[in-house]
Amino acid sequence: MDNQREQFGSKLGFILAAAGSAVGIGNLVGFPVNAAKSGGAAFLMVYAFFVVVICLPVMMAEMSLGRHTKRNPLGAYSSVSGGQFLWKIGGWLALITPFMIAVFYQVLTVWLLAYFVGAISGNLQAMAAPAYFGNFIQSNSVFVYLVVLIFIVGYVLNSGVQKGIERLAKILMPTLFVMLMLLTIFVLTLPNALVGIKYYLVPDISKISPEVISNALGQAFFSLSLGMGILITYGSYVSRKESIAGGAKMVALVDTSVAFFAGLLILPAIFVFNPATDTSELSSSSVSLVFTFLPKIFLSLQSIVGYLGASIFAATFFLLVFFAALTSQVSILQVPLSAFQDELKLSRLKSVLSLGGCAILLVVACTVSFGMVDYFTNFTNYGNANKSFFDVVIDVFYDTILPLNGFIICVFAMHYWKKANLNAEMSIGDENFQGSFTQKYVNGSLSYVIPAVLLIVFINTVCIKFFGFSLTDYLS
Ligand code: PHE
Repeated sequence: MDNQREQFGSKLGFILAAAGSAVGIGNLVGFPVNAAKSGGAAFLMVYAFFVVVICLPVMMAEMSLGRHTKRNPLGAYSSVSGGQFLWKIGGWLALITPFMIAVFYQVLTVWLLAYFVGAISGNLQAMAAPAYFGNFIQSNSVFVYLVVLIFIVGYVLNSGVQKGIERLAKILMPTLFVMLMLLTIFVLTLPNALVGIKYYLVPDISKISPEVISNALGQAFFSLSLGMGILITYGSYVSRKESIAGGAKMVALVDTSVAFFAGLLILPAIFVFNPATDTSELSSSSVSLVFTFLPKIFLSLQSIVGYLGASIFAATFFLLVFFAALTSQVSILQVPLSAFQDELKLSRLKSVLSLGGCAILLVVACTVSFGMVDYFTNFTNYGNANKSFFDVVIDVFYDTILPLNGFIICVFAMHYWKKANLNAEMSIGDENFQGSFTQKYVNGSLSYVIPAVLLIVFINTVCIKFFGFSLTDYLS
C-alpha cells in the first residue's frame, strides 16, 4: 500500500474536486436532454428519488473503498479480494468503462471548445441557426479543436492530482453556477416560459415507464460519476480526517442542483423559442437540443446587453462549461491512469502517452460517425434502429453499463469487503456516523435491495436498448 499518496489539501478542496468531476456534460447537456425526452417532471421525480435512495449509498461505498485501500479500482478490488478472478472482472469493468466514457466525452468537449471560440469570434448569430450544429459536427474544423483539446487534457493530466484538478475546480465551478442561475432567471422571464416550467415541474405520473426509469438511473449514475471507480480513486486521495458521508451528500447536492438548473434553463427555453412545441415531439430529443437552444438564449440577451455583451456572456458560459467538462474528463482518465501507474509501475508521462494513443484512435472513430465516414456513421443496427459508432459507445457506456458496475460495487463492498469494514471506514473522521440514520439506511439497503434494483434496471435497459422490448411487456 502506498502511504505516501498525495492527499487533497482541505475538506473544501476534496468536495470541490469531486464536484468538479461530477459536474460536467452529464449535468449541463445530458440531464436536460434526458428530461426533455423522458417526460419532463416525471423524469425529474424519478431521478431525484434515485439520487437519494440508490446513488448516495453507492457513492459512500465507493469513497470508503478508495480511502481504505488507497488504490485505483483494479488495485482496490484485487487487494481486498486477494486477486480472485471474479473480482478482477469487476476491476477491469471499472477501468474500461471510464476509458470508453473518456472517448465519447472528448467528442462532446471538443464541441464545447468550438462553441466558446465561435461565440468569442462573433459568430453567435450563426450558431443560433437550426442547421449550424449539424453542419459543424460534420466539418473538418472539429479536428483542429480535437488536437488542441488533446494537448490541454494531456497537459493537465501530466501535472498531477492536486495541482491539476483542485486548482481548476475551486474557482470555476462556483462561477459557472452563478451564471447558470442568472441565465435561468432571464429565460424564465420570457414569454411562454411557463409552459416549459409546467412540463418540467408538474409531474404526470402516467409518463413513468420502464424506459424513463432506465434513463433516470443511468443518468443519475453518469452524472454523479458513479459505477466506474472514479470515486474509488477520489476516495483514495481523501484524508482520514474527513467524513465520507458528509462529503458524499455535499457532492450529490451540488451535482443535482446544477442538473436541476440546467433543466430549468433548457426546458422552458424550448417552449419560449418554439411556442408550438408538442411535448410528444420531445421524445426524440438529442444533444443537438442543447447546442441549438443555448445560442438562441444568448442571442436573445441582445435586447438587454447588445450583441457584444451577449457574445461575451455566451463565450464565458461556454468556457466555463468547457472547464467543467475538462475537470470531468481529467477525472475520468485519472482512473485508468492511476491503474497504469500503480499496477504496471509506468511513469505518469508514459501512462498518459500510452492511454492517450489508444483513446485518440477511438475518438477519431466517434468524430467521423456523424456523416464523415459511412462505415462509422452506419456502423450497425439493433433495437430497430441504425446506429453509428458513436451511438454504440453512448448506448453501452452512458446508458447501460453503469448500473451493472454499481451492482458489482455493492456486492463487493457488502459481501466481500463486509459491512463491518464499511462501517469502520465511514466512522473514521466522522464521530456521529455510528447509530445515525445514514448508517442504518446504508447498512439496511446496500446489501440486497440496492443491488437487486440495479441488476433489474440493468437487465431491463439491455432489453430496451438492444432488443427493443421491456421486461414489463411480459407482466401484462
Ligand atoms: N459526471 C460527469 C458529468 O456529469 C461525467 C463523468 C462521468 C465524470 C464518469 C467522471 C466519470 O458530466
